[in-house]
Amino acid sequence: MSHVQLCVNVDHIATLRQARGGNEPDPVQGAIICEEHGAAGITVHLREDRRHIQDHDVFSLRKVVKGKYNLEMALSDEIIEIALKVKPDQITLVPEKRQEITTEGGLDVKTNFKRICEIVSLFHRENILVSLFIEPEEEAVKLSKESGADFIELHTGTYCNAKGKDAIEKEKRRLFHAASIARNISIRVNAGHGLNYINTAPILIMPGLEELNIGHSIISRSIFTGLANAVSELVQIINENK
Ligand code: PXP
Repeated sequence: MSHVQLCVNVDHIATLRQARGGNEPDPVQGAIICEEHGAAGITVHLREDRRHIQDHDVFSLRKVVKGKYNLEMALSDEIIEIALKVKPDQITLVPEKRQEITTEGGLDVKTNFKRICEIVSLFHRENILVSLFIEPEEEAVKLSKESGADFIELHTGTYCNAKGKDAIEKEKRRLFHAASIARNISIRVNAGHGLNYINTAPILIMPGLEELNIGHSIISRSIFTGLANAVSELVQIINENK
């Protein structure tokens, strides 16, 4: 039985809603269904361009999420101000480019070190956990620990995009190596991006792994099977594979 927890990223329920600009489908309703079917928490990304999740969503989610409420955000004063009002259980700092389709790669912790340290203290003062979305690289793991962050979230995108057995194994080893460094220096480990019903099982034994943030694959499957089934199936994969 795995102790890894699933946090469902419901951004893409909002993507579909924004396609018509109305009220449905509602990511808040989606979050309730995810938690009822085994999700340990809910993740959303309030992007500066508001392409999916809107400000009213992040406040409504605070009222309904019973497990961990994780708010992803860029190093942006505007979003920080909103996050301090919302008071999620955790924030995850991510890089953000306006033109990207989705988050591409981890934070540059070295270049942004001072700013990251300031943001960590700001949220710690409000008892909010801070996670840094980073590449599985030794320097980024060590700098994350130095910044005072509670968690790293290892970017699994390169592993998920790798083609062929050798390339996949190589990326898996990079993730496991970064996770074992994190464990040695006592910073907690989450992971996510690009994970689905096939590539999740092999990384569940990553050293110290606590939470996975998974969105697109679950919301995609839910169109055909319903959200309750899509979440339950992934929870089952996590629970059966360790
Ligand atoms: N973790 C982070 C930091 C992300 O930015 C995203 C995408 O918003 C995810 C996890 C989830 O990725 P996916 O939608 O590919 O499962």
